[in-house]
Amino acid sequence: MTKYALRKITIAIDGYSSCGKSTLAKAMARELGYIYVDSGAMYRAITLNFIRQHVDISNQEEVNNALQDIHIHFQKDKEGNNHMILNEEDVEAEIRQMQVSSMVSQVAAIPQVRRVLVEQQRKMGQQKGIVMDGRDIGTVVFPDAELKIFLTASPEIRAIRRYQELLNKNQDTSLMEVRTNLAMRDRIDSTREDSPLRQANDAIVIDNTYLNEAEQLQKALDYALTLIET
Ligand code: CDP
Repeated sequence: MTKYALRKITIAIDGYSSCGKSTLAKAMARELGYIYVDSGAMYRAITLNFIRQHVDISNQEEVNNALQDIHIHFQKDKEGNNHMILNEEDVEAEIRQMQVSSMVSQVAAIPQVRRVLVEQQRKMGQQKGIVMDGRDIGTVVFPDAELKIFLTASPEIRAIRRYQELLNKNQDTSLMEVRTNLAMRDRIDSTREDSPLRQANDAIVIDNTYLNEAEQLQKALDYALTLIET
């Protein structure tokens, strides 16, 4: 338990693709002794399953049937990092690959998919003491969250950071491919009908284009601690 564990609040972090949401959310959860949930990993796991099962995403019945056979949960490894488990298989590495990134926004735009995942996400947050990152966390999943952060960074910085991250994981891609993928996902995510990505009215905006990880964490923690300590 950390010294901050006295009052538990809900922290929602939303923003465009690859703007550092997961890095910030993970660090905040660690500092506060909170649960961390990467909601994007859940959409990615469903997408991976649909790709493997050749699900026709324009066919509602196929989508519904496929969803019934999908069971996902997070499991911690020895270092305390969350791994996405899809039907008992650890798919943490595979869901980050470009093949999944190129389909995930199309899958995440399907209302039945969102219904299933949002229900699961709300259950995870019932006890508060949670940091969840995604696209609709402050607007749809936890509209009553005490702290909502909308993270932004310039498109070029986001592309460079994600490209570097994929290179570090030995994934075969190019900066151009990453840039195009981020732009496509941002467009689909913010224009879809069901729960489009948008800044909640009561969200605090943090632009991390010129902030390092420690600086963005400090900024966000300052907001959180003000709420927790009052
Ligand atoms: O890490 P990155 O910002 O690239 O994306 P992610 O958080 O892993 O999310 C992958 C995709 O899932 C997004 O591009 C959205 O299409 C979808 N998503 C969503 O629709 N709603 C969420 N709450 C989280 C992710």
